[in-house]
Amino acid sequence: MKNLLVALGERSYPIYIGSGILRQSELFKKHIKSKQVVVVSNTTIAPLYMNSVLKNLDEYLVEQVILPDGEQYKTLDYVTQIFDKLLACKFSRNATLIALGGGVVGDMGGFAAACYQRGIAFLQIPTTLLAQVDSSVGGKTGVNHPLGKNMIGAFYQPQCVIADADVLDTLDDRQLSAGLAEVIKYGLIRDVDFFDWLEQNIELLLARDKSALAYAIEKSCKNKAEIVAEDETETGIRATLNLGHTFGHAIETGVGYGEYLHGEAVAIGTCLAADLSRRHGWLTDAEVARIINLFKKSALPITPPPQLDTDRFLDLMAVDKKNIDGKIRLILLKKIGLATLPIDVDQNLLELTLNTYGRK
Ligand code: NAD
Ligand code: GLY
Repeated sequence: MKNLLVALGERSYPIYIGSGILRQSELFKKHIKSKQVVVVSNTTIAPLYMNSVLKNLDEYLVEQVILPDGEQYKTLDYVTQIFDKLLACKFSRNATLIALGGGVVGDMGGFAAACYQRGIAFLQIPTTLLAQVDSSVGGKTGVNHPLGKNMIGAFYQPQCVIADADVLDTLDDRQLSAGLAEVIKYGLIRDVDFFDWLEQNIELLLARDKSALAYAIEKSCKNKAEIVAEDETETGIRATLNLGHTFGHAIETGVGYGEYLHGEAVAIGTCLAADLSRRHGWLTDAEVARIINLFKKSALPITPPPQLDTDRFLDLMAVDKKNIDGKIRLILLKKIGLATLPIDVDQNLLELTLNTYGRK
């Protein structure tokens, strides 16, 4: 088992990465300091992994909240179901919440933990590749609003992250590819060697080679942990993790939550960001081609949905946490392995990208 640290002073915590570690009771016992425990999951993941988790919890008073499965349920209404259970069971402030699932369950469970009685402890047990390499690490929690993705939330760090690579065996291929979009992101924003490695090993990853997957998860978590340790609340470098996300969030909101997987929308968004970076004179044609080719090989979409025209894109992109005074700010790439901080992009170039990239 690998053990990485997210170094945040007294809020530091480990990320455990390994095979079969969901069955290691001592990991749970080490991080649960209460009698009362609530496990939050969804209707797909609970039948697969709830029992494995419960076996570690026989000495606790355990309740479960099983949410419906889907991005469209990542809302305040459904987070309220978690509060309802905690209150009905008279759970106190020292209770512990375990989020067992992908990024949706992790973001909702973490947000409920941040809010219930102004904050209870929580553990992240990510079950998708995307959640293992990104969403479970770093303490961003929250829900969507019909007018904007992840617009309601809190920074709230877990006690630990337990990433068991074996649970990826039941993940379907489309979801695996969606996770790869965030893996590729780390190579693009700060780790050119990792990007090169991904180009060489993408077939192994798609074939679910265990050691390639373990390497990609560890490398991704290491990159994310370093960024979060430097900038927990996104006043600077952490914003680079949003490469492609402003376009991606616009796609998710514009087409309807759940239509495109988050990773798919990010893949398209990153191709748009690469095109715009080229127009700013930074990426070369050859670098843009390498980026698009890697997403393509990862079985990810690379062109924007035809129903979102430029005006609609710009309207949706105006709702973004990086924007200042209503002005769209984006992360772009100076080269593969080096991202910019959020910049005020040239509006004409942005419109050129939206009008032409991937359009017939
Ligand atoms: P998801 O949580 O919807 O999971 C994808 C699908 O896979 C779901 O149907 C789920 O039930 C199923 N599933 C999960 N684990 C499984 C398993 N082991 N076997 C079989 N099926 C399984 O989607 P996701 O891609 O994990 O997460 C996307 C969400 O994460 C988005 O809401 C996004 O905004 C958020 N996100 C948050 C952060 C952050 O820093 N907090 C970062 C990136 C993404
Ligand atoms: N996924 C973006 C971040 O954690 O900052």
